[in-house]
Amino acid sequence: RFSVVATAPPDSILGLNEAFAADTNPEKMNLSVGVYKDVSGQTPVLRCVKAAEQRLVDGEKTKGYLPIDGQADYRTHVRKLVFGDTIDASRIAVLQTPGGTGALRESAAFLSSQIPGARVWISNPTWANHQAIFASENVPYDSYRYLAADKKSFDVDGMIDDLTTKTRPGDAVLLHACCHNPTGVDPTAEQWNMIAALLSEKQLLPIIDFAYQGFGHGLDEDAVAIRAITNVCDEAIVCSSFSKNFGLYSERVGAVSVVSADSATSAAVQSQLKALVRSNYSNPPRHGAAIVATILDDADLTQMWHAELTEMRTRIRQLRSQFVETMKTTGAGHDFSFLLDQNGMFSFSGLNPMQVDELRQKYSIYIVGSGRINVAGMSEDRMDHLCKVVAAVIEG
Ligand code: LMR
Repeated sequence: RFSVVATAPPDSILGLNEAFAADTNPEKMNLSVGVYKDVSGQTPVLRCVKAAEQRLVDGEKTKGYLPIDGQADYRTHVRKLVFGDTIDASRIAVLQTPGGTGALRESAAFLSSQIPGARVWISNPTWANHQAIFASENVPYDSYRYLAADKKSFDVDGMIDDLTTKTRPGDAVLLHACCHNPTGVDPTAEQWNMIAALLSEKQLLPIIDFAYQGFGHGLDEDAVAIRAITNVCDEAIVCSSFSKNFGLYSERVGAVSVVSADSATSAAVQSQLKALVRSNYSNPPRHGAAIVATILDDADLTQMWHAELTEMRTRIRQLRSQFVETMKTTGAGHDFSFLLDQNGMFSFSGLNPMQVDELRQKYSIYIVGSGRINVAGMSEDRMDHLCKVVAAVIEG
């Protein structure tokens, strides 16, 4: 029977990790998957995480199941981190999920089961997994314009026009709260207000992917989209990930937060979300969420986390500058200064698929086929080499 099974293509992001691992070139550099690397090239365990884990190991009394919707104190902390005190807690159903992907998949399942007929509108371009997640739950999707023709800036008019003319009331719109993946191009606070007003006017449901809180400008600053939208829309879904900002990639810790118009509706929503989880993975894993809750329960550990997050964010900005400056030294016209206005781990380099291929085949530099570069994977020490080979492929 299984002989009919065809081979699936490798994942456009994680597949590159596999190819990178198999590459024997000592000069190889992985700028594909979105993980942060420190000065020594490692993806570190944050100091606040190590300290929290020590406490957990010492104090853990059981490996019993968590509730279907996850650990209660974790859920409270997520709500505060994402929404602050702006919305009555009884209007928000928060569920702990396995990573941000788990949160998005739960949102897609919720749409599919509770709002049949809704389509979801996705930015062009977007994270390579978004379409597949909604397709897996049979939610139809389409795209709205996002990146301008210069491939460097936000096409606000295109986005507004598409959402105005193409959507139907009840459709959902998938938004990146900050650090847009793959472009690093974010709307300004004013533009978020415009987008929020349109969502409200057209009765569109915002689904906000919030995978990079703290990687743009700061934990609160990066929530500007959440504030703008929840100010005017009484329903919204926020999908959080703590892979990046706590460095908890392999622990798979995230959350889906569904905002409803009133507490009675919210209770019904929570019950449906739990039913979906039960038939999917039953209940979430404990460890990652317990780490986050332990840190956020403790003032010293929280302060340590803030400092470590600031360190990562600041260093990524420095790497952006160093890349831009070093590229300038490689020849006239190699101006990448547009990278300085972009946020988070990623930027669209403007390199075309042939150049991306050449970087990989000739120099073992791995970036995503779209030309997306993970700036957080660059290193100070190897910047000269990186810029030299990028210049070489640009010049052909
Ligand atoms: C990325 O976009 O590289 C990250 O979000 C990791 C992933 O799962 O693709």
